[in-house]
Parts: sequence; structure tokens; C-alpha cells
Amino acid sequence: MNVRKARKNDAEQITQFQILMARETEKMELDIEVVRRGVAGVFAEPARGTYWVVEAKVQLLGSMLVIPEWSDWRCGTVLWIHSLYIKPPARKQGLFRLLYQNLKQQVIQDPNLKGLRLYVDKTNSVAREVYEKLGMNRDHYEMYEWLK
Ligand SMILES: CC(C)(COP(=O)(O)OP(=O)(O)OC[C@H]1O[C@@H](n2cnc3c(N)ncnc32)[C@H](O)[C@@H]1OP(=O)(O)O)[C@@H](O)C(=O)NCCC(=O)NCCS
Repeated sequence: MNVRKARKNDAEQITQFQILMARETEKMELDIEVVRRGVAGVFAEPARGTYWVVEAKVQLLGSMLVIPEWSDWRCGTVLWIHSLYIKPPARKQGLFRLLYQNLKQQVIQDPNLKGLRLYVDKTNSVAREVYEKLGMNRDHYEMYEWLK
């Protein structure tokens, strides 16, 4: 197993992961052309975020998007985990743990990085359990949103 930053030629596989994830976790059918452009937009502008992938030999088994958010309270950057997907046959084998530990290690070693955050659909009980097993805790914030 290998964890690495994604390359541009991973974009189509990452797009497919997003389509599958939305279908599985939110029963939502995303527009694949929009997602393709959205994924390409990350590679086009690195300040938007970084995809990380986990692979076995040359096969991608999962990916996540890491997005930086400036924290004025901490005078540093909090990293958000988004768009996380591990292929079903590769689950429960520690692949997300690998991605997570790799990222956490970067935060520990870099004084400019202050922590990790993510949000999860309330109904996604598997992911909630996974995050708690990895030592994350639900903080005191509730998330609100307005989406066009
Ligand atoms: C959530 C998800 C990313 C977890 O990935 P994974 O590679 O299977 O997770 P890991 O194998 O690294 O497991 C990490 C820990 O969670 C536990 N875990 C994994 N799947 C679990 C499950 N279905 N139920 C309970 N615990 C589980 C593991 O046992 C491990 O704990 P341990 O080391 O104490 O045994 C994966 O299930 C997934 O892609 N789900 C669909 C997409 C999704 O929900 N994305 C998140 C949106 S917010």
C-alpha cells in the first residue's frame, strides 16, 4: 500500500469515486461533467486543496481531498478532509487509517498547521464510527449551510 499526492492522471478515477460516494452516502446522483470540472479545478489551482490517494501497485483504492482553512484564532491553518472514498472491497483494511495518519503526522510536524476537521452526513453512521475510532471527536459546533 502506498499513500501519495494525486497526479493529474488520477483525476478521472477520483471523479468516479465522487459519483459513487454521493450515490452511496447521500443517494444523490451527481452530474459527472460538473464533477469532472470540479476535480480538474483542484489540480488547476493548488491553493484550493490537494487530493491524496492510496494505491496498491498501480490501482487506486481510495482518495480524499484536503482543503486548507485559515484560522485567525490560531494564526495557522486547519486542514479539512473532504470527498473521502475507499472502494468497497478495500474497506476495513486500514486504508483510511493510512491516509489519516499520514495527514496527522504532517500536522504534528508543521507548526503552521493546527489540526484536522471534517463534517459528515448525520445518517452516515459507519463514517462517524470510523472517525471516533481514529480519535477524532465531535466538537461543540453545529454546521449550518445555505447552498444555491
Ligand atoms: C468511511 C470509510 C472512508 C472508512 O475507510 P476504511 O478504509 O474502511 O477505514 P479503516 O479500515 O482505515 O478503518 C479505520 C477504523 O474504523 C473501523 N471501521 C472501519 N469500517 C467500519 C465499520 N463499517 N464499522 C465499524 N468500524 C469500522 C476499523 O475497524 C478501524 O478501527 P480499528 O483500527 O480500531 O480496528 C469507508 O467506509 C468509505 O469510503 N465509506 C463510503 C464513503 C464515506 O462514507 N465517506 C465519508 C464521507 S464523510
